[in-house]
Amino acid sequence: MTQTQNILVTGATGTVGRQIVAELLTRGHRVRALTRDAAKADFPDGVEVVEGDLTDPDTLAAALEGVTGLHLITFGGAFFAPLETGPRILELARAAGVRRVTVLHGGGPSLLEDAVRADDGVDWTVLMPVEFMANALEWAEGIVTRDEVREPFVNRLSAMVHEGDIGAVAAVALTEEGHAGQEYVITGPELLTVGDKVAAVANARGRAVSLVELTEEQAVDQWRAAGHPEDVIGFLIEAYGNTPEVGRTVIDTVEKVTGRPARSFGQWSAEHAAAFTA
Ligand SMILES: NC(=O)c1ccc[n+]([C@@H]2O[C@H](COP(=O)([O-])OP(=O)(O)OC[C@H]3O[C@@H](n4cnc5c(N)ncnc54)[C@H](OP(=O)(O)O)[C@@H]3O)[C@@H](O)[C@H]2O)c1
Repeated sequence: MTQTQNILVTGATGTVGRQIVAELLTRGHRVRALTRDAAKADFPDGVEVVEGDLTDPDTLAAALEGVTGLHLITFGGAFFAPLETGPRILELARAAGVRRVTVLHGGGPSLLEDAVRADDGVDWTVLMPVEFMANALEWAEGIVTRDEVREPFVNRLSAMVHEGDIGAVAAVALTEEGHAGQEYVITGPELLTVGDKVAAVANARGRAVSLVELTEEQAVDQWRAAGHPEDVIGFLIEAYGNTPEVGRTVIDTVEKVTGRPARSFGQWSAEHAAAFTA
C-alpha cells in the first residue's frame, strides 16, 4: 500500500469516475468527488462530496484545497461539449499543490488535455480507453422487453474494456510513481463481435437473446429516435462501421499497470445480469 493521498475526482458520478472513486477508496486513499449537484449524487461511505462546475473554474477552489492528485474529464455540460477552461483549471490545480493529474481522453481535440500535456509542473497521465463494456447497458430495454438486440455492423471487432479496469489504471497512476508522461491505451482481454457480446449477456441472464442486424440507415433512424444529436450519430457510424485499429487491438496495459489481468466481458455480464432480466 502506498501512503494515503488526497485525490479529487471529476466526472465522479459518471461511468468511469465512479470506478476511480471506488478503486481509490479500496486502496485506502481519501477521495473527494466533484459533482454539479450533490443532492443527486450517491457515493459510497467515506467519500467527501463537493460541488463545482468545470465550465466555471472559480467554483473549484474549495474542491482543490489540499489535494495532491486530480482526475479530469475533458467535457462539460450537454452532449460532451469540450471544456474551454482547461488552462485555468490547471493553474488552480498547480496553485493548490496538485502533483499528479490523470485525464480521460475524449476521442477528439481538447484544450484541457493540451493544457495538461504542456504542464511540466505536474506528473500527468492520459487515459485512452477503447469502447466501454458499460455501453452494453444500452441494450437492456430491448433485451428485457423483447429478448432482442438491434445493431448495425454486427461483425465489427472490439477490444472493449471493463470500466472498473479504467478506474484501477487511473487509481494507480494518481497515487504511484512511474506513470508520468504516459498515454495509456486501455483495453479488455479479448476481441469480440457484437454476436459474441450478445451471447455473453444471454449466458449471464440464462435466457436467449436474438441479434437483429440493422442497415446503416435503420441504425441512424434508431439513434435519432433515441434523441442522439447528429454529430454523435456521425461519430457512432464512423466508430462502428470503420473501427480504428486501436479499438480492435488487445494490449496489456491493465495487467502491466495494476498487476491484475483485464476483466472479461463474460465477467462484466455476470456482474450486470440483473440489468438484463425482467
Ligand atoms: N463510452 C465509451 O465507449 C467511451 C470510450 C472511450 C472514451 N470515452 C469518453 O469517456 C467520456 C465519458 O465518460 P463517462 O461515460 O464516465 O461520463 P458520464 O457517465 O456521461 O458522466 C458524465 C460526468 O461528467 C460530469 N460533468 C459533466 N459536465 C460537468 C461540468 N460542467 N462540471 C463538472 N462535472 C461535469 C457529470 O457530473 P455531474 O452530473 O454529477 O455534475 C458526470 O459525472 C467522454 O469523454 C467519452 O469521449 C467513452
